[in-house]
Amino acid sequence: MKDRLPAPLVSLLHEAGELAEQHRVRVYAVGGFVRDLLLGVTNLDVDLVVEGNGIAFARTFARKRQARVTVHERFGTAVVTLEDGFKFDVATARTESYDSPAALPTVKQGSIKEDLARRDFTINTLAISLNAPRFGEVVDDDGGRRDLQNKSIRVLHPLSFIEDPTRVFRAVRFEQRLGFRLDAETATLMKEEATRDAIQRLSPARLSKEMILVLSERQPRTVLARLADFDLLRCIHPELKWSPELARLLKDVEETLTWHDRLARDRLIRQWVVYHLALMDSLPTPAVQETLSRFTFPRGQTRRTLWVTQEGPRLLRTLNQRTTPSEVFRLLRDLPDETLLFFMAKIQSESEQQKISTLFTPESATPVLKGNDLKAMGLKPGPVYQRVLDRLLDARLDGEVTTEADEREFVARLRSSASSADLS
Ligand code: CTP
Repeated sequence: MKDRLPAPLVSLLHEAGELAEQHRVRVYAVGGFVRDLLLGVTNLDVDLVVEGNGIAFARTFARKRQARVTVHERFGTAVVTLEDGFKFDVATARTESYDSPAALPTVKQGSIKEDLARRDFTINTLAISLNAPRFGEVVDDDGGRRDLQNKSIRVLHPLSFIEDPTRVFRAVRFEQRLGFRLDAETATLMKEEATRDAIQRLSPARLSKEMILVLSERQPRTVLARLADFDLLRCIHPELKWSPELARLLKDVEETLTWHDRLARDRLIRQWVVYHLALMDSLPTPAVQETLSRFTFPRGQTRRTLWVTQEGPRLLRTLNQRTTPSEVFRLLRDLPDETLLFFMAKIQSESEQQKISTLFTPESATPVLKGNDLKAMGLKPGPVYQRVLDRLLDARLDGEVTTEADEREFVARLRSSASSADLS
């Protein structure tokens, strides 16, 4: 841990262990945090499980560190957010039983062993003891370390997918993210689950959450391709099929997002929305409508997606006819970044892409001169200012002016030219 985690985080984990010892409970780091730690992958989202009252432990820990704590009584969980930005999710160790497939489980307090035994894949069942005398000891009852080494995704028991069908999506996500492989028996169980109805009966909320997670992975294209191997794209819509065209569009989205990440990373976007637009693009409109009415995406997003699939083709055709960057800018300036990125991925012409890319670099789309400068140049304040600034913006976008001196000259020309009539 000392080699792979920031020193302040290691001391926080030590402190949690000492506190647990004082309060006679046992505390463990678990799940993805431990998996990634052993793989050497950066993951600072710490999940703690307490044998005992997890919420009480979280409250005491937060008080001691003067940290913020958010409690979810109903789930027996809490989130402690520490001043230096670290975040601990704290849960009470529990056992779960399922009354019927795809239903939510009944939960009772339990031991760490029981807590780990209810999890999805062996690689997620590893825990690290934090209590002072056994700090750093790995708990590995289900062969998690062996499977990490073999790069294998393996369920703990044959009913795993039946108990929780969302695990089919998780299996493929982990497989592709980590470069692992489903073990043979797990793949067989998954094929069986994929043909069952239960997967189609998942609630819209759970299915939507899984879709967003799939489309938020580093490379959704490979995850979607693998879902297609199991005929699981039909969970999105029965008409959604894997095709060379879809694969290519997803690859183009990938490249566009890499571009965005390099050049405009301070403009936060929701990657999943761009990929979702690409998926919807390969469906006919009625199928898009059916998909959107089934999923529980935020309402505004649903409306925007429908708009893009209906209006996008027309807009892209218009874009083809508009020649100047300023025309393109005015046509697209009010669209969300995700839509623009989708359009960039969708169109093949590099010069068209470049015109859209201007919308991500506002510095190249803002005149140097402001209202005050126009006033100093003797222009009478009024609505004319907006018109002059608009003309200046176009001139800048189209490369007619680049420096402040150019802009001043441009305004002077504008005032004295015949077109000054439009400025009054
Ligand atoms: N889990 C499970 N079955 C599910 C969802 C979660 O068994 N359907 C368990 C897994 O053991 C997982 C833990 O709950 O390790 C926490 O879930 P989550 O935060 O989704 O998983 P991570 O492994 O942390 O995944 P990620 O790296 O994607 O955050």
